[in-house]
Amino acid sequence: MTSLQPLGTGILAAMYAAVRALQLYPAENEVVKRGLREVKEQADRILEHGGGLSVWVAGNYMFVNDLQVKLDLHEYASLAAFRQVFRGHGVGRLEADPKAAEEEWHAFLTLLATDPAPGRPPLEALQAELKNRSVKHINVGPPSPMFEGSEGEQSVEAARRTYTRSVKVARDMMEGLVLGKAIGARRAERAVLAVVDQVLREPATMLGMLTLRDFDDHSYVHSVNVSILSVALGDYLGLNREQLFELGFAALFHDIGKVLIPPSVLNKMGWLNDEEWRMVSQHPDFGLLMLFNVEGFESLPYRAMLAVYEHHMKPDLSGYPRVIRRRRQGLFARIIALTEAYDAAISNYSKQFLPCSPDEAIRQLREAETGAYDRVLIRAFVNMMGIFPVATLVILDTGEMGVVVAPNPNPKALNRPLVRIVADSAGERVGDGPIRDLTERDPETGQYRRTIARSTDPARYGISVADHVA
Ligand SMILES: [Fe+2]
Ligand SMILES: [Fe+2]
Repeated sequence: MTSLQPLGTGILAAMYAAVRALQLYPAENEVVKRGLREVKEQADRILEHGGGLSVWVAGNYMFVNDLQVKLDLHEYASLAAFRQVFRGHGVGRLEADPKAAEEEWHAFLTLLATDPAPGRPPLEALQAELKNRSVKHINVGPPSPMFEGSEGEQSVEAARRTYTRSVKVARDMMEGLVLGKAIGARRAERAVLAVVDQVLREPATMLGMLTLRDFDDHSYVHSVNVSILSVALGDYLGLNREQLFELGFAALFHDIGKVLIPPSVLNKMGWLNDEEWRMVSQHPDFGLLMLFNVEGFESLPYRAMLAVYEHHMKPDLSGYPRVIRRRRQGLFARIIALTEAYDAAISNYSKQFLPCSPDEAIRQLREAETGAYDRVLIRAFVNMMGIFPVATLVILDTGEMGVVVAPNPNPKALNRPLVRIVADSAGERVGDGPIRDLTERDPETGQYRRTIARSTDPARYGISVADHVA
């Protein structure tokens, strides 16, 4: 028996593709026809298993026949837009039985593809219209009361909890080490696993947390951010959960050796003298030694220790610690070196530099000198984040303002992410507005409906972007 997981992704992706096609092309267009055929085929594949086909929207999740559909970052992007289509029509549940014919799917998806007419509750209007068109084998219903509440609230809360807990664990471990305490691995292990699972479940929401500015403890926030980014990139590269755990662990403690360096040196404004620089550049060695003090691992995460030691080495070995013999900087260390550069660029850890916007940080990485970072990883990172990463506040050429919620599912459209509108063209705030796909074109002119004019600083508008990403 085929597992339901790929079937669940398949039917949702097919339905969204068909809705998009119906929005862009007339019904007789080949793309539309192909899309509808695909929906029917995918639906039949599930219906073969018996028990009908039901799709549920619950907060940020979608279920197909009671199975939560797991999504990667790119699928997540189109699914976020698809959820929005469901919600726009007041639909929380869809049921189809094996008799649903292609014409019925056509009628149903056409209605979904059209914006609901004002003046009547959208779900009621949709149900009446389905009846009108004699669609008998596809039914829609309201969201379950269990999942009421504003969209995505639960997952933002869950992400925030995981984030906060990880910052605390990082702080406790590092402070404990300063006092010379041996540190138990259990808590750290749990915190890292929570980050891994949260990133796998809701990557965009978790990446949105990078912009939280709830804490003053820079070094701990940096550790957690680097951990989130590294796990997301590792997942993008296809690492398994165990590898992601080791990577997340290494990332969370990559700078742990800094606890042995006097704060007066670490926080010094201006250039370091030779002696101070020598101290700072020893933190990878210190870190490696300190990880030997972590007790309670069944097997010591050897690769994690190595990554801590190597994270400033650089692919061309021009960094530190200096090595005498030729070696290769490991994959985990390369990932961490890249993600920590990104986090440092968007954050205000150092008083000497102003933080830059996420899109500017991406631009800097793309233009970084060769040898500093792994070129292949840079490309993967940019593909994952998009030119305008999740949580970037952007101004559109329509005058609207929006928050990037996901990269575009189409990897060729890196500069056209999915954007949640937070202010209309009159500058009026709209709270949690609709999510717009910036590859959307006006069917008459063929022009893009919306294009990013520039990014801007959320602090200027008092917008907490983390609240809008889910
Ligand atoms: Fe760092
Ligand atoms: Fe470091």
